[in-house]
This record gives sequence, structure tokens and C-alpha cells, in this order.
Amino acid sequence: MKKISTNTLRRLPRYYALLDEMVKAGEDKTSSGKLAKIMGLNASQIRNDLNCFGGFGQQGYGYNTLMLRDEIGRLLGKERHFGCIVIGAGNLGRALMSHINFKDLGYRLVGAFDSNEAFAGQMVAGMPIRHISGLDDFCRLEKPAVAVLCVPKDAALELGKQLSRLGIKAIWNFTPYDLSLELPNMVVENVHLEDSLMALGYRLQNLD
Ligand code: NAI
Repeated sequence: MKKISTNTLRRLPRYYALLDEMVKAGEDKTSSGKLAKIMGLNASQIRNDLNCFGGFGQQGYGYNTLMLRDEIGRLLGKERHFGCIVIGAGNLGRALMSHINFKDLGYRLVGAFDSNEAFAGQMVAGMPIRHISGLDDFCRLEKPAVAVLCVPKDAALELGKQLSRLGIKAIWNFTPYDLSLELPNMVVENVHLEDSLMALGYRLQNLD
């Protein structure tokens, strides 16, 4: 698969959502100018992004929304249905299980685990919470590819290593512990909602 830059990658989900809206609204083509206006970028930036993976633009025609949406979806793995488990079914883990549409994003939520015995058997979003002691057997059987890590910081590294040994390939890491350095063979996406709030503070101060 062709390599794309990190900046382009970060914009692809937004392109996907926009194109999906257009397809559903019956718009069969669009232009770099229109996409640029909606996304607050300039048209050459859009063309550059979309050319990165072949693009579906034709001079004088623009982009075929359906083909471009599906190509971006394919690049983002939306058709792969990666098996996914949640580790740490506390406040955040439960919120993600209830509110993230894993299926639409190309994932299958297949299990949820917590070390709190009192949680075992509780149902969240139609999924039973299992005790963490069953993680090894579960992974050997189900072979999930992805773990969503929602445990306290001090539990992150040990669990990350265990998940790596169990064949998990990728971690959607919500803990404040950056696992990417110690687990170089895994794909780690660190998510920090607070970063976004802090960036908001900077922009707020520079409004004028
Ligand atoms: P919480 O305390 O409600 O949930 C944590 C859960 O992890 C608990 O149910 C606990 O029993 C379980 N747990 C602890 N050790 C475990 C282990 N070794 N194996 C399996 N389960 C284990 O905490 P909350 O609020 O859900 O936060 C979870 C994590 O997410 C924390 O690290 C927190 O700092 C982080 N967080 C990150 C945000 C972000 O933007 N990235 C936003 C909010 C929280």
C-alpha cells in the first residue's frame, strides 16, 4: 500500500465523512475548490492530499465522490472488520463501548476486560465484561488485532507487553503512558483529549 504522510492521514477521516455525506445526498461529483472551502484548506492542498493515493480527479470534471469515498475507506481499513477488545471497563471504557460506532469504522468489538471482579458479567452496549484473567485464553481463541486501552497509567506498560505477546498488533491508547517507545513492534495511536482543549486555549488567547 502506498505510504501517505501523517498530515494527509490525519485529514483522511474528515474527507471520508464529507464525501460520505455527498454520496448520501446524491452528489456524484465534487471539486477540490468545494472540498477546500468546507475544510478550511486551499484547493492545491486538497489536490496534493488526494493525488497521494492516485486520486480520482479528472481535469474539468472534479472528483467522483463515490469512488473517492470508497478508496479512502479502503485505505483506512474500513472493510477489514478488525477484531477489537476494550481493556479497562471503567468510566472511559464504558463510554467508548457505548458511543463509538466500531462497526462503521471498520472494527468488530469482540470483548471487554477489567480487573475488577465485581464488573464480571455486567453488560455494556450488549457486550459482557470479562475478568482480565481470561484475556490470554480469549485472545488465543478470538485473535483480536486491536486493543483499546482504558486502564490507569501505572497498568499500561505491563498490559501493553502482555497484549503484544498475545499477538495484538495495535493499541488505541487512552492512558497517559506513551507506549509507542517501549512497544516498537505495535501500532500505537495515543489519544489525548486534553491536548485538544489546551490547543483551544491557545487559539482563544489569539483571537484578535
Ligand atoms: P476508571 O478508574 O473509571 O477505569 C479504569 C478501569 O481500569 C477500572 O475499571 C479498573 O478496574 C480497570 N483496571 C485497572 N487495572 C487494570 C488491569 N491491570 N487490567 C484490566 N483492568 C484494569 O478510569 P477512567 O476515568 O475510565 O480512565 C481510564 C484511563 O483513561 C486513565 O488512564 C485515564 O487517565 C485515561 N483518560 C484518558 C483520556 C484521554 O483523553 N486520553 C480522557 C479520560 C481518561
